[in-house]
Amino acid sequence: MMRPVMFGLDAERAHETGIEAMRLGLASPLAAPPTESFGEIERFGLKFANPLGVAAGFDKNGVVVDRLASLGFGFVEVGTVTYKPQPGNPKPRLFRLQDDEALINRLGFNNDGAAVIAERLKKLDRRCIVGVNIGRNKDVLNEDTVANYVKCFETIFHVADYITINVSSPNTPQLRDLQLPENLSELLRKLQERNSVLSAVSDWLSPESESKGGVRRHVSGAYLGKPLLVKISPDVTDSQLEQIVYTCTTCGIDGIVATNTTIARDGLATKDVERLGTGGLSGKPLTKRSTDVISTVYRYSKDKLPIIGVGGIFTAEDAFEKIAAGASLLQAYTGFVYGGPSFAHDINTGLAAILKERGFRTIDEAVGSAN
Ligand code: FNR
Repeated sequence: MMRPVMFGLDAERAHETGIEAMRLGLASPLAAPPTESFGEIERFGLKFANPLGVAAGFDKNGVVVDRLASLGFGFVEVGTVTYKPQPGNPKPRLFRLQDDEALINRLGFNNDGAAVIAERLKKLDRRCIVGVNIGRNKDVLNEDTVANYVKCFETIFHVADYITINVSSPNTPQLRDLQLPENLSELLRKLQERNSVLSAVSDWLSPESESKGGVRRHVSGAYLGKPLLVKISPDVTDSQLEQIVYTCTTCGIDGIVATNTTIARDGLATKDVERLGTGGLSGKPLTKRSTDVISTVYRYSKDKLPIIGVGGIFTAEDAFEKIAAGASLLQAYTGFVYGGPSFAHDINTGLAAILKERGFRTIDEAVGSAN
């Protein structure tokens, strides 16, 4: 019922209205999704109530995390958060492509900044796993990029169950260059160094925090630290993917989020899409490419790196295809915008039914089954 009203508004206004309605509690909680049908979902040392999370960009400032959990999402990735607050690009910067069930955005990491968001998350009544996705401020010089990520990382470290390093947004100039092997390796090594130190300090100050899903234990004296994931672009070649997987593995990364939005515009039904300008395309046109990337990452990582599959999930069948390609968790943004408040419940219920129908007793049995 609400969809025609919301879709009558400019896309960014509709998003802000939706967030405000949720914050005020106007979207009623839905019955819990069928968690028992998935088996235990333990990934990078954290336990998830169900496999579907909200992708980064939806709750950039961490204002509706608990509301999203009550709509049936198993986790929320807040952000992208940058060290300093920033306003993002000039408006208009978010567009609906209804004929393609897609969105184009060039928001440019508009967010309240790491310190404000960390304070907000600290006060949160946690009902699901909360990841924080970090990125670079736009006005930072190339040579200061790593230091900027590190400051952001340190500020949000204690409030994140896991941290995703975003090196793949198309809307911050040169951000995607961080996917090049030398750049990626330098960034990941530096963050892992801080990860070890901060985890050791945190463990020392509060040894019981392990059991809360916060800091993980140490093995043979080495602190494993918080789970760190890397979010990658769909606009890379297979050989670039192979290098990214290699770098992530050698830097002790815990998982890959595949994928971010694409700059491709192939095969769209929307006329004159160029008039909307630059930005990342999400939704239906991304479904297949993102699943292909998941398959490739799964094969290159020899199933050693858990993958969060994201890109164009609209139905339970889309969700299952990503699991079968190798994803062991899922996220969605555009499908949720088009599907409305019952989206998480519908996907989880449908996915549980598909698993059962095809003879998988747990989600783990289905991960990578198409490979
Ligand atoms: C995004 N996405 C995104 N990703 C990210 O890592 N940081 C961000 O700040 C944002 N911001 C953002 C804003 C908007 C309006 C959209 C539509 C998307 C990308 C998002 O997390 C996801 O990777 C892609 O949108 C693909 O998934 P869907 O939307 O097809 O389910």
